[in-house]
Amino acid sequence: MNGTLKTMKSEDGALLPKAVIGTNAWGDALYGKMVRGSYVTEGVMHEAVKTSVRVGIPFFDTARDYGLGKGQPIVGRLCGEDTVISAKYTPMGKYKQGQVRASFEKDLLDFGRSYIDIYWLHLPNATKENLTEMTDLYREGKIKNIGISNFNLKECKQAKAILDQEGIPLYGVQNHYSLLDRKWEKDGLTAWCKENGISFWAWAVLEEGMLVPPKKNEKKSIMKLMFARKRRKLYPLYKTMQEIGRKHHLKIPQVAMCYVSSKGFVPICGCRKPYQVEELAAAVNESLSDEEIRLLEDAADATGVKILGADMFRFAVKKKF
Ligand SMILES: NC(=O)c1ccc[n+]([C@@H]2O[C@H](COP(=O)([O-])OP(=O)(O)OC[C@H]3O[C@@H](n4cnc5c(N)ncnc54)[C@H](OP(=O)(O)O)[C@@H]3O)[C@@H](O)[C@H]2O)c1
Repeated sequence: MNGTLKTMKSEDGALLPKAVIGTNAWGDALYGKMVRGSYVTEGVMHEAVKTSVRVGIPFFDTARDYGLGKGQPIVGRLCGEDTVISAKYTPMGKYKQGQVRASFEKDLLDFGRSYIDIYWLHLPNATKENLTEMTDLYREGKIKNIGISNFNLKECKQAKAILDQEGIPLYGVQNHYSLLDRKWEKDGLTAWCKENGISFWAWAVLEEGMLVPPKKNEKKSIMKLMFARKRRKLYPLYKTMQEIGRKHHLKIPQVAMCYVSSKGFVPICGCRKPYQVEELAAAVNESLSDEEIRLLEDAADATGVKILGADMFRFAVKKKF
């Protein structure tokens, strides 16, 4: 870890990103065109990585399935020692002893590293067994911080109790959260994180493009076709975001990013291009007032748009904890 990164830590050494770059859409040409409507070359993504270092948000979130399996090796090729990698283990089938370690070793090969800064258990399946494997890797110095993702409050408390018994801190919870879906705040999960000094990382703060107003001649993609009807209902919200953004010199998508950081959470935003990284950094360097936050939340609620977000992966969660 270099000098710049050392400054992004708390007194007790925990990593404190202001924002994180999501790599869900880092893939090949076919994947990019189908899912995002456009393809970005590795050269452009490399410029985005260099920009992230320059603007002080060199944090990259990834997982084995991102970009249909192409994302993680791209992160490995482009992200140097001056960046922080956040990766995940996704427990899907029946638990098999050693599954986390086997997957983790492949991740290390993808990244060309001997450790991973933050490693998340992606779903609350076989939590005790999977977390126990992660604590072994933590003790070996191969995982620097342990997090959990897509856990509800009860599951978070159970996971924390498992780690407490091992004397290992729970670094963070990575769940869906945006201006349009504040379920985890209403359920008390984010307050519990704050009370316990646990970082809350919010994924899909732009709702995968829904909080980006449509442009003329926009290229079609699976995402854009899926969200077209909902986006039409969001126009009054875009207007409120534009008015508030004007006061802070922020564009509409940046207001969505700044909203999340102003609430004290870490926004993870899918960026593939240098300008997006610059805009993310500029957004989280601003702060919205309580009144602006209230206006945005009222406008979001008034649209009546419901998002599957927080519950998107519950189908993959087995009943037994
Ligand atoms: N833990 C989990 O289970 C989980 C699940 C899902 C996602 N995540 C994480 O969260 C990250 C973010 O989610 P996401 O990438 O799906 O969605 P997102 O960040 O909500 O939205 C990405 C979209 O926003 C656009 N965008 C980015 N910056 C912009 C800017 N400055 N101005 C205008 N548009 C901008 C992108 O445009 P382009 O298409 O032009 O690039 C893309 O279409 C993922 O990459 C992943 O790391 C975690």
